[in-house]
Amino acid sequence: MKSAVRDYETALSQIRGVTAGETDLTANLANVSAVLKTLPGFFWVGFYLLKEEELVLGPFQGPVACTRIPLGKGVCGSAFERRETVIVPDVHAFPGHLACNAASQSEIVVPVFDRSGSPVMVLDVDSDLPNAFCETDAAALEETARILTAVLL
Ligand code: SME
Repeated sequence: MKSAVRDYETALSQIRGVTAGETDLTANLANVSAVLKTLPGFFWVGFYLLKEEELVLGPFQGPVACTRIPLGKGVCGSAFERRETVIVPDVHAFPGHLACNAASQSEIVVPVFDRSGSPVMVLDVDSDLPNAFCETDAAALEETARILTAVLL
């Protein structure tokens, strides 16, 4: 499944709508997770937030997940440390991938920055299909991250 089937125009419009005028972090991350979870092939969607030098599970939609990820570890820790989006077409081929759920086959992780440009969390999406993410997904999820920076951080 490729991003062509995902209606990001509608999803981004909904994300702008649900976050507009709302400054509560938990409320916004929960609703953004819910909007993104409606997209085809999105098996798990959620956030890991920087807390005392590790990434800690925040609002998400999907099965139970790992709660803490050391910086630099897994796809999430790598994207955070590199300060850039990481697309993993096959999680089994990514050294250090943290398997929270055996069904996950591919993954995309996008860092979210505060207004001063420091990373403060990551947006993580897993698919139960291989090779589910491309640059179109990256662009839309990076736009989601920018919306969160503008409303929250
Ligand atoms: N696979 C991630 C861990 C988080 S779960 O996918 C929800 C990683 O390697 O960082």
